[in-house]
Amino acid sequence: MKEFITKSRSLLEETEELLNEQIKLEAVSSAIYLSMASWCEIKGYENSSNFLYDHVEEEQMHMMKIFRYVNEAGGHALQPEITGVPHDFKSLRAIFEDILEHEIVVTKSIHSLVDHCFGLKDFTTFNFLQWYVTEQREEETLARRILELFDIIGEEGMGLWTIDLEIGKLGSGGIISAAAPDSGA
Ligand code: FEO
Repeated sequence: MKEFITKSRSLLEETEELLNEQIKLEAVSSAIYLSMASWCEIKGYENSSNFLYDHVEEEQMHMMKIFRYVNEAGGHALQPEITGVPHDFKSLRAIFEDILEHEIVVTKSIHSLVDHCFGLKDFTTFNFLQWYVTEQREEETLARRILELFDIIGEEGMGLWTIDLEIGKLGSGGIISAAAPDSGA
């Protein structure tokens, strides 16, 4: 059995290591968004909170897709250890600024993985990662769209309440469902 597993391995160790790092990054995303969702909930930003709770599950799904791929390709997916997740945030706007910044980091990490696989002619993993390339473009667009709401609506008076309402609309039939790639891919 052991010999069979060794023979069936199609993933280079270096690629396996990078994919495990990506697994961790997706798990970190999920953990941070859970913390943000909780903060929004206790501060009364109900729609933003629901939006972020949905995103927690989405990031879990991102993580699991890679997790299963690594094992299927003969590698060993590692359960990531997550520490140091922040619990306090300056404001609703600061949360979405952090999200955009974080998603840019995730995009760079995916692109560097894609570049690595292309260089090694690992076209199977390269092809697998194309889903993430599209997904990251959508995630960044969504974060930017939300930040625009703060500029367009403004935070004075009923502003934050309205922004929270609009964020809820984006999460439930707006840009996510319109633009996200097929999650079953
Ligand atoms: Fe899975 Fe938001 O990156």
